[in-house]
Amino acid sequence: MKAIEIRNKFLDYFKSKGHSVIPSSPVIPENDPSVLFTTAGMQPLVPYLLGEKHPAGNMLTDYQKCIRTVDIDEVGDNRHLTYFEMLGNWSLGAYFKEEAIGMSYEFLTKVLNIPADKISVTVFAGDEDAPRDTEAEDAWIKAGIPQERIYHFGKDDNWWIAGDEGPCGPDTEMFYDTGKPACSEHCNPSCDCGKYVEIWNNVFMEYYREKDGTYRKLQQKNVDTGLGLERMTMLLQGKETPFDTELFVPTMEKLKELAKADDINSRRIVSDHLRSSMMIICDGGMPSNTDRGYILRRLIRRLTRHLNKLQISIDNFTNVIDITIDNLKEMYPELEQNRTNIHKVISDEQHKFIKTLENGEREFEKAVLRAKQAGEEIIPGTVVFKLYETYGFPLEMTVELAKEQGIKLDASEFDKLFKEHQEKSKMGSENKFKGGLAEQNETTIAYHTATHLLHKALQIVLGEHATQKGSNITTERLRFDFAHPQKVTKEELDKVEEIVNEQIKRDLPVTCEEMTLEEAKARGAMGLFENKYGEKVKVYTIGDFSKEICGGPHVKHTGELGRFKIKKEEASSAGVRRIKAVLIKE
Ligand code: SER
Repeated sequence: MKAIEIRNKFLDYFKSKGHSVIPSSPVIPENDPSVLFTTAGMQPLVPYLLGEKHPAGNMLTDYQKCIRTVDIDEVGDNRHLTYFEMLGNWSLGAYFKEEAIGMSYEFLTKVLNIPADKISVTVFAGDEDAPRDTEAEDAWIKAGIPQERIYHFGKDDNWWIAGDEGPCGPDTEMFYDTGKPACSEHCNPSCDCGKYVEIWNNVFMEYYREKDGTYRKLQQKNVDTGLGLERMTMLLQGKETPFDTELFVPTMEKLKELAKADDINSRRIVSDHLRSSMMIICDGGMPSNTDRGYILRRLIRRLTRHLNKLQISIDNFTNVIDITIDNLKEMYPELEQNRTNIHKVISDEQHKFIKTLENGEREFEKAVLRAKQAGEEIIPGTVVFKLYETYGFPLEMTVELAKEQGIKLDASEFDKLFKEHQEKSKMGSENKFKGGLAEQNETTIAYHTATHLLHKALQIVLGEHATQKGSNITTERLRFDFAHPQKVTKEELDKVEEIVNEQIKRDLPVTCEEMTLEEAKARGAMGLFENKYGEKVKVYTIGDFSKEICGGPHVKHTGELGRFKIKKEEASSAGVRRIKAVLIKE
């Protein structure tokens, strides 16, 4: 069954059960500065999950275009995607567990014709916050799942919340047994050996998690479900990866035909990043150096680097774009409507990048050769720094290149040079990096780190409720929106400023680590906990002062920031204040 048929069958099924079909929201959230992209079907529906009336009624179904880029570095393996489609059905205070589970089971077994014995489910085991979900368990038994294929897990597996505050509740997840042998006698759906693949999640939102970690019952009980279309397509077609389905095959094959040097990982990366870039562009995204624009830039630049590896020219790539649009336009008519714009945005960005890239990669390869000839296993920091300064290679890209070549980088030497460079440019007039990533300059990076310091300082002075609601950085200033019910007093602002400047004076090191969302949470990192799939996130730590989930980049030491000064404090919207601040280089 093709993806589009699965989507249509899903929407038709829920329509036949009294749901209204609503359109997908854009991948760029319309009124939500707190997240970069739409990452789940429930996200645009939060106000309705909290009780507001939805114009289409209290039973809804849709497909939602989603972007999740925390795993961007994993794309190229056999399962990660930065763009995916989530099919969902919602009950806004209408039906609850038994009906939801009954419909899920019927859809899987009667509409998609999945043999019942291939399905296992998990339900919430209960803890001090909420009881064991016997209602869901009974509903599964009633639907036809035998007791031995019902598993019980705690919050890590069977609880869903978007962020660390908001509507939430126990969930029940459905798993498809691929038929692969069990990895051990304890193998079960929570194991990631590949035998069981999660196919659908039903969240029963009956609680609200307060900022202080306590739970209260919601007035309205909701159902929120999410079924990943690419994964379901792959399973129903018996394919090993989503790249082997019709969603990607034409793109993958065209790339193979054009490539002078084939590499399946690079073809997957190009296919994936092209699809997500096109979706972002369709919804109005443009490459830039901050937030959403930076992610689009990173996607296009990364795909371009892999095109280079495949030895496919940018001119030939236009064919790949056209073939991909032709292949997907029935599912996404907006691709056809935006064809010219998609070509233009991608090609402009590629031309900016390609020159830099070619020169930089040549430089890198020479360095690898030199190191290998000398019997060394490490690339000197001077080379890494030159790539950074002269060719505008973000450090993350050099790290990736090195990983591919199985060679290490001298990061501490790089850090030292980087710092010296910052000192020099503080003295000189030129503040921008030379090379391709010129606009991602040290000023905006410094403001980014200052934003983390400000966020933490606000929480110290005002309280933990003062969480980030928005952030915007230019080369002139930072702007930070945060939750706070009233005007921040002059004394409080002075205190915040003082705390930030104190951390700058302490010249704290800024370090970055990758970990799962759960680990980040456990270590007390601030940030948006968008989902719970054990995804890897980057956590930036500033000395002993702050820990925050963030994509970066950041300065290496706070001493590089200069003096921090708050210029303005004003209302942004109800319950949200806004601070504008500058860094003064002394
Ligand atoms: N919100 C849940 C998820 O993202 C179900 O839609 O999995």
